[in-house]
Amino acid sequence: MTKRKSRDAETTLPLFKDMPQNGFAYQPSKTQASKIKEVKAERPVLEATTLWDYPRQSYGKRPKGNNKYPAVTPAFIIWNLVQRYTKPGDLVIDPMAGSGTTIDVCKEEERQVIGYDIAPAHPEVIQNDARSIPLSDNSADMVFIDSPYSDNINYSDHPDCIGKISCEDERFFDELEKVAAEIYRILKPGKVMGWLIGDQWVKKRFTPVGFKLYERLCKYFETVDVICVVRRGQTSNTGLWHNRARRFNFYLRGFKYLFIMRKPSLESEKEQQNRSIRWARYERGRISKRNKVEGPSSTTATPTGSG
Ligand SMILES: C[S@@+](CC[C@H](N)C(=O)[O-])C[C@H]1O[C@@H](n2cnc3c(N)ncnc32)[C@H](O)[C@@H]1O
Repeated sequence: MTKRKSRDAETTLPLFKDMPQNGFAYQPSKTQASKIKEVKAERPVLEATTLWDYPRQSYGKRPKGNNKYPAVTPAFIIWNLVQRYTKPGDLVIDPMAGSGTTIDVCKEEERQVIGYDIAPAHPEVIQNDARSIPLSDNSADMVFIDSPYSDNINYSDHPDCIGKISCEDERFFDELEKVAAEIYRILKPGKVMGWLIGDQWVKKRFTPVGFKLYERLCKYFETVDVICVVRRGQTSNTGLWHNRARRFNFYLRGFKYLFIMRKPSLESEKEQQNRSIRWARYERGRISKRNKVEGPSSTTATPTGSG
């Protein structure tokens, strides 16, 4: 009789497929140990928790993106998403690719990749506005995006840069939602996108940029998970600013959100429709004797779906 593969075995990532899944300490063989050592020297570690912290922007022998570019993305984040949610040959899209970190990571991992930006800062990034992506529907296997968080950074002089709009203005979220709708359109059903974003505290005013964006994303996507990425590279990460934060009673931004969201698969959309309860509302005063309710202004609602 052929042994049936467990679901876990099927979804285990290639490097870790030999590791025991039963919670006991892992005892690698000599060959496995040297393989892991070799890989560790070249590549990041696959994250196991929802707290990600990186001592530097890039890894390996070749640079990924340009670490002098304003708000460049830590390459480790993209590497982790690529490992978990794509396989070699898959197509990854970055609609705001800046200095091309996503391009460099994906090429090394043998994924196909297209990076766009309103003001490209990498020879392979294509000039394009993220609110209109020149790709057909359901064509991408994964999307990664690290968007502006507000008007705090001057990325370029391009008038269509969303980073020219303050996050205190609702228009900022309207524009990001147009980008979200495009990401939804180009992603294949059941595929994943990762969106990195941080909050703002400026002039004694806090704006929950992450929560506000998340609310918009939920209109389109299902949540896979929310990751907290420790912020290390920002200019305020100095002793002087830490002292100011204590003296003047405010907090420096310590983390960013990485929203990992999935475009619902066709099956899960159908399932959702079947599961949803269709509520029948009865007009006031037309309640049957059996369902008698108190008070003249009461309204009853009865589920008519299968539940
Ligand atoms: C945080 S940076 C991205 C950094 C990039 N991931 C990297 O590692 O270099 C945000 C990027 O969004 C781009 N951007 C802003 N508005 C845009 C728009 N409407 N369409 C496309 N890109 C836009 C900016 O030019 C900037 O490069």
